[in-house]
Parts: sequence; structure tokens; C-alpha cells
Amino acid sequence: MSSSLSTMAYIGATILFILSLGGLSNPETARRGNLFGMIGMAIAVLATVLGPRVTGAGIPYIVLALVVGGSIGMFAAKKVQMTQMPELVALMHSLVGLAACLVGFASYVDTSTVFPTPAEKTIHEVEIYVGILIGAVTFSGSIIAFGKLSGKIGGKPLLLPARHWLNLTALLVVIGFGREFLAAHDIAAGMTPLLVMTVIALLFGIHMVMAIGGADMPVVVSMLNSYSGWAAAATGFMLSNDLLIVTGALVGSSGAILSYIMCRAMNRNFISVIAGGFGGGAPAPKAAGGPAEPQGEVQPVSAAETAELLREAKSVIIVPGYGMAVAQAQHTVFEITKHLREKGVNVRFAIHPVAGRMPGHMNVLLAEAKVPYDIVMEMDEINADFPDADVSMVIGANDIVNPAAEDDPTSPIAGMPVLQVWKAKTSIVMKRSMASGYAGVDNPLFYKENNRMLFGDAKKMLDEVLGALKG
Ligand code: TAP
Repeated sequence: MSSSLSTMAYIGATILFILSLGGLSNPETARRGNLFGMIGMAIAVLATVLGPRVTGAGIPYIVLALVVGGSIGMFAAKKVQMTQMPELVALMHSLVGLAACLVGFASYVDTSTVFPTPAEKTIHEVEIYVGILIGAVTFSGSIIAFGKLSGKIGGKPLLLPARHWLNLTALLVVIGFGREFLAAHDIAAGMTPLLVMTVIALLFGIHMVMAIGGADMPVVVSMLNSYSGWAAAATGFMLSNDLLIVTGALVGSSGAILSYIMCRAMNRNFISVIAGGFGGGAPAPKAAGGPAEPQGEVQPVSAAETAELLREAKSVIIVPGYGMAVAQAQHTVFEITKHLREKGVNVRFAIHPVAGRMPGHMNVLLAEAKVPYDIVMEMDEINADFPDADVSMVIGANDIVNPAAEDDPTSPIAGMPVLQVWKAKTSIVMKRSMASGYAGVDNPLFYKENNRMLFGDAKKMLDEVLGALKG
């Protein structure tokens, strides 16, 4: 492929990636957005493999790598459960970071490139140093995020004494070794500062994510998404590949915007998220005169009683959460919705921005079950409507409907906006036990006078509710 054809293909792929991101911003166009992304990526890979920079002898190796990598990716994507998706994404991000590190080391030891001026050589070395730095932080941070999201590592933040000083010292050491790296006269001399910096960056990535508490994990997921983009862009600089730079920058900046949206949704400041410690699992000590333990009694209901409440309601708001994803109850939820709507009940869905375990988790599940988009509302659109609802039905959600976030300034999730389900005439919470949610915080909603608990697996209980409604 000639170099001008390859450039054209790169421009085409870039446009498709931008269209893809545009499409993904709305559930109705998301499928098309995905398709654009897939076509763009196919063009990008083909144009790179067949492009002027790959010699004929290298093609079999690349094809072999594509077959092996593609098969592993396809196997993982087919095998993964919807609830394990965030972990898979975290693992994928770690691979982008690892790739940036490996490319960095490979370009450093590659002596085939001749730099016309010393300045160009220095610029290339800065790219390598920064690329490996971002790559290593992304790699180890994503592995820890994978551990936290899959429950292999506890959600409690690890708060080392003087951790901010530790981070600052690490940054200064990295800068110091960077100078040494750039001043090195040969590869052997430059390798030591490069390796030391890589180890520090790996430790920094571990420390950074370990310090972040369970409740801030949504921000971490999108932040690492952003880092992986910058790691890819850094790789693009090292390889002088424009498409990789543009694609990395698109992922990096969209991840940064997503992190901002997540922070706003949780009423958190980005810097304090990075500083860590929020949602530690252990409730904060209560201030003198502060709110006491949850008051009131838990009132269990049966599926038949739930069906009765729904049958008598004129307006119902359904709040899905992580438990709906675990139980795979979305199809039954839609069956119930259809049944109620046929009887003239106004049924709507309220989606909290951090419901589930990844951005848009609930939207994906509801779209899969074919719930019409026009009855799926964002938190800001529907929160004021709860007082007018007869029934709010919470399906496997917990943190996102916890009134302690509003009422208890000492709660670890204080200040996070939540769906005010308790303002409906009756709220029904569907879950298996009194266990807490991801943030590990007690939920006073369960004890409110107008709240009922429907205990059991969400799918099983909803099947019973549907049976009772139809019967
Ligand atoms: P959670 O607060 O985690 O609560 C989910 C509830 O579902 C649990 O309390 C659990 O109670 C119940 N459950 C689990 N399996 C169930 C089943 N088979 N049937 C019925 N109920 C079941 O979920 P949420 O309200 O969706 O809030 C999301 C949380 O995850 C937030 O803290 C958020 O910060 C965090 N998080 C979000 C993201 C993103 S990007 N969305 C990423 C990482 C973390 P039982 O065990 O009693 O059944």
C-alpha cells in the first residue's frame, strides 16, 4: 500500500472513530456508533499491516499475533458475564499500559533509527520516558482496579501514613531519574534510570488505586480508561504513528470527560478522588448529636402483596441496580412493565449515573430487554417525580437509593446525589438480604415506614410478581 493511500485510510479511520464516539453518546445511536468503531478499527489495522512501514517478512508474524490476540479477545468477550464486564475492561486497560511500556523499551534499544539532530533524539527519548511512565501507572493501576472490581481485593482504601508525601517524593525521584536518563551517553547507561522509573511508576499505580475507596471506583474505572488512551497516544508518538496519537487522544479525552461526569454525579471533586479514602467500608465515627442508627422496623412483603401494590398504582418508578444485572432480571422487568402499561399504569425507569458497575450498565441491560428508551430517565430528569409516584420499585439497588447520603453528614457516601425512592407513597426494595451494597454502607431506607422489603433473588421474585399480576 502506498504511503498516500495509507494516509487516506488513516484519515478515514479517524473520522469513523469520531462518528463512533458521537453515536455512543445516545442509546438509540449506540449500535451504529459501535459499527463505525469496528469498521474504523478494521481499516486502521489493515492500513497499518499493509502500510509502507511493514516489510513483507514481518507480515506473517503480525498475522500470527493478530490470530492469537484476536482469538483470546473473542473467547474472553464470549465467556464474560455482563456483571464481569467492568473487570474485563479494567484488564484490557492494563494491556494497553503494558503495550506502551514494551513499545517504549523496544524503541529505546532499537538502534536502527538515525536522528538528524541531537534535539530530535532528545525529543524521542522524552517520548519514551513519558510513554513508559504513563504505561506503567496504567498497567499496575488497572490490575488493582481489576482486583477491586472482581472482589479479589477489598474495597477498603489503603491509607498509608504520609501518602501524599510518598507520592510527591516518587514524582521528584521520577523527574530526577528523567534528567539522568536524558543525559546518558549509551543505552546501557540509560537503562538503569529507565528501569528505576518503571518500578516507581508501577508502585505509584498500585498505591494510587489501592488508596481509592469502594464508593469512588466508578471514577477510577473511567480515569483508567482515560489513562489507557494517553498511554496509546504516547505509543503513537514513540512509533511516529499519527493514527495512534489521534485515537489515543480521543480515548484519553473522552475518558477524562467521563471521569468529570462521574465526579459530578457523585458530587465529588476529582482531586479528592485521586487523593483517595472515600467509601472506606467502615462507617465514619458519628459526630456528637449526629443521626443515630437506622430507626424503625423492616417490613417484608410477599410477591403477591407486591403485585397487589403494583396493580393498584397509577404511577410506578422502577430503579434498577447491580442486583438486577446479577439476577439477569431485566427481561422479566420488561414483561412486568408491558403488563402494567397495558393496564394504563405510567411506568418509568430511573437510572442513577453510577448504578451497577460500569457507566451505562443499566441502560445496556434495559436496551437488551427492549425497554423503550422514552421511559428510561436519567436521575436529574426524574428525581423530582418520586413524590407523585404510588410505587417506587428498587430492583437490586442499594447505594444509589441510600438516604444516608443526604441525611447523614458522617456517612462515607455523604453528599452523593441519590434517587429519592422513599418519597413515593410506597417503596419496595427487592434484594436477597439486609446486606450492604458496594460502598459497604448501611441503608436506612430499609427501615422507613413506607418501605417494604421483597427478599429473594430478583429474577425469581419478579417471576412470582409477574405470575401474581397475570393470575
Ligand atoms: P450496590 O449498592 O452494589 O447494591 C446492589 C445490591 O444488589 C446489593 O445490596 C445486593 O444485596 C443486591 N443483589 C445482589 N445480587 C442480587 C440478586 N441476585 N437478586 C437481588 N438482589 C441482589 O449497587 P447499586 O445500587 O447499583 O450501586 C452501585 C454501586 O457500585 C455504587 O456504590 C457505585 O459507586 C459502585 N460502582 C459503580 C461503578 C459504575 S461505573 N457504575 C463502578 C464501580 C463501582 P443482597 O446481597 O442482599 O441481595
